[in-house]
Amino acid sequence: MEVGAGLSWEDHQTRIITRKIVHMKKILITGAAGFIGSHVARLFVNKYPDYHIFNLDKLTYAGNLENLKDIDKKPNYTFVLGDIVNGEFILDLFKKHQFDGVIHLAAESHVDRSIENPMEFVMTNVIGTVNLLNAANAIWKGNYSGKRFYHVSTDEVYGSLGDEGFFYEDTAYDPHSPYSASKASSDHFVRAYQDTYGLPVIISNCSNNYGPNQFPEKLIPLFLNNIRNNKPLPVYGKGENVRDWLYVEDHATAIDVIYHQGANGETFNIGGHNEWKNIDLIKVMCKVMDKKLGREPGTSEKLIAYVTDRAGHDLRYAIDSTKLQNELGWKPSLQFEEGIEKTIDWYMQNEEWLKNVTSGTYQKYYEKMYKDR
Ligand code: NAD
Ligand code: DAU
Repeated sequence: MEVGAGLSWEDHQTRIITRKIVHMKKILITGAAGFIGSHVARLFVNKYPDYHIFNLDKLTYAGNLENLKDIDKKPNYTFVLGDIVNGEFILDLFKKHQFDGVIHLAAESHVDRSIENPMEFVMTNVIGTVNLLNAANAIWKGNYSGKRFYHVSTDEVYGSLGDEGFFYEDTAYDPHSPYSASKASSDHFVRAYQDTYGLPVIISNCSNNYGPNQFPEKLIPLFLNNIRNNKPLPVYGKGENVRDWLYVEDHATAIDVIYHQGANGETFNIGGHNEWKNIDLIKVMCKVMDKKLGREPGTSEKLIAYVTDRAGHDLRYAIDSTKLQNELGWKPSLQFEEGIEKTIDWYMQNEEWLKNVTSGTYQKYYEKMYKDR
């Protein structure tokens, strides 16, 4: 492990690590202790033993090294503790390791938190991204060959759809929440660095992910946890909002394909063609959980509680990922029925993980967010 700015530094150990990896392709993955990042890091570490993967993460409430315990001893993996908001530290890190590529996932990612505290989203999602762009640009300038800055973004930048239609790569940006506005801003900066400085960038915009290791503030793990603990299921508004769900490992394979085969300056939409009205999805979770918990059919549905809607709540997201499918041959591998079953089994079998992440500050968060709804 390396330790970032403001913290002590184990120079000797770092020198050993640096010596070993000098001839490998070095990829910096930011936010790889989080939900999606951990699946991307696992895929890259296992699939590309001749790459060295650096995971730079601040370990916020959403970052958890337990997510990576199966790969943390691998010789081609190094964890670096640090904050992307610290520009000096980021530049030093790039100078030191001379990364060949960046896959940038680190972000504040929860819409409800962005409504409570927008500035944190500006700092990490906008300033943090610009710090990474500046460092990559400074180090790669004049020699962009074989280099790549991959920015992982969201479909929320496109705004909200009515009952019909899809988001395409050229759909105009129309973000509504502080979270989506910060991601939209970061996307614009990434493209501006390509247009202004020639930085080799690529962007993907993905729909809602689900699967193992997702922090239980997001709909699916939150509701699974509440069902298990017989707690109310706080459905925002009438539960009629629609999301397009993609299994997290399919997102990771899409990132792999785009990172290796996409052309510089391109954008790819990633989605599951798997739209669900929230209330219908919640009823499916209740049904499956009744079975898994040995409850009478219909028991868990009684926990549904309609609460005050999310401010600025986008009605519907739906991604058209034809470009990715036609140009790079990617498509989701899992049907939703299989994906949700796997997800539920994972949360049932990883009670300890859930207990660890929901102890302490999570309780305060939960009370604050749901007390007055
Ligand atoms: P997450 O909240 O689970 O993880 C974010 C990670 O970033 C955590 O490990 C956290 O510690 C780290 N981080 C936060 N601030 C940091 C900072 N200042 N410096 C360094 N590390 C920091 O998020 P996620 O759901 O895995 O999302 C990952 C990325 O994918 C985000 O950029 C998000 O916008 C995007 N995305 C998410 C989804 C989704 O459904 N979850 C869909 C599309 C796109
Ligand atoms: O679309 C991609 C985005 O998906 C990502 O960019 C975000 O990082 C990710 O958090 C997710 O955003 P959403 O706001 O769609 O996800 P969330 O799980 O918070 O909510 C999904 C839907 O469920 C949404 O319509 C709000 C609703 N909801 C959510 C919570 C937490 C509820 O009804 N009750 C809840 O308690």
